[in-house]
Amino acid sequence: MLFLNKHAIQKIDPDIIQTAVEQAYRMMLNQDYNMPDRMHIADRQNTLLLMPCFSESFFAVKLVWVFPQAQQHGQPAVNGVMVLSDNVSGQPLAIMDGAAVTAQRTGAVGGLGVKLLAPETVSTAGVLGAGVQGLSQARYLLFNRKIKTLYIYDLYKESAISMKRALKKEYPNVEYVITGNSNQLVENSRVIIAATTSSKPLFEVTPDVVTGKIFISIGSFRPDMQEFPDAVIENADDIFVDTMFAVKESGDIAIPLNNHSVTKNRIKEFAGLLEKNTYPETSTVFFKSVGMALFDLTVSSAIYQLAVENNIGQVLDF
Ligand SMILES: NC(=O)c1ccc[n+]([C@@H]2O[C@H](COP(=O)([O-])OP(=O)(O)OC[C@H]3O[C@@H](n4cnc5c(N)ncnc54)[C@H](O)[C@@H]3O)[C@@H](O)[C@H]2O)c1
Repeated sequence: MLFLNKHAIQKIDPDIIQTAVEQAYRMMLNQDYNMPDRMHIADRQNTLLLMPCFSESFFAVKLVWVFPQAQQHGQPAVNGVMVLSDNVSGQPLAIMDGAAVTAQRTGAVGGLGVKLLAPETVSTAGVLGAGVQGLSQARYLLFNRKIKTLYIYDLYKESAISMKRALKKEYPNVEYVITGNSNQLVENSRVIIAATTSSKPLFEVTPDVVTGKIFISIGSFRPDMQEFPDAVIENADDIFVDTMFAVKESGDIAIPLNNHSVTKNRIKEFAGLLEKNTYPETSTVFFKSVGMALFDLTVSSAIYQLAVENNIGQVLDF
């Protein structure tokens, strides 16, 4: 039984993680897995999620909990434990820092979104929310595209400053601009990624500002949480979700559906994009991710295999 902590997981090459996310989408297309609906358990404003998934070779269970107020205690909002087991012998193979796996695979979900939806020539982008997921989204965005100017906005300027500092070390040639408000970020960016704990739309926008942009929503995971105003989805040429559970789980889809700003038949699974060669350059597109256990399975098994090959992690006696 291998134990992998966050330092080991954070060091893994983004290419390996993004390839594992792509593999999860291919398994979706082939219906080659067994994934029940994840269980949400609410306690006051906090949520515990139980996320199991089975493939032919592995089964993975992630327990992840979101405490939106944790920042007030100087702590991250998301914590968790990932357990990977052999699906033939039933033996536990690895236990991993679930928050680190989540940050890596969610960054890669956004990164693959950028890779398949954003034109190669895109040079401006913005990230709303400079927490754990915001930083990971920015890393995978910069891994996939040569961005000249990256705009960052967070409710807390110090968070935006520390994200800028971390990114500057890895991508020194990018110009980082911390904006005073979210509208300014949206106006200046071609790709806009939101990874906040906000329940209310993060900005106000007119249809002309939306046109031709790529919007990626990572944060909202409850029907009462919405990061993007209805105007975005209303004016999008295409709407994608990582999993159809997003329709009921996320207010970014459920609220506009309820307001009749969009109809359900316009919402498509992102996996379908893997079968296309190119995506139209000028499209306005909205991609909502809520995440799913299948990503955790393919990513944690890729991490495990790499760790075994390279003697990474600590062997534990169970
Ligand atoms: N789609 C997925 O698969 C997935 C995976 C993991 C986490 N999440 C969700 O992503 C969200 C962020 O998670 P995290 O781990 O980065 O949390 P975090 O606490 O580390 O960061 C959240 C950041 O959002 C900022 N923020 C909150 N409201 C804001 C607002 N109105 N405007 C600007 N900034 C604002 C906070 O100041 C904070 O810096 C959570 O809701 C989490 O549940 C989604």
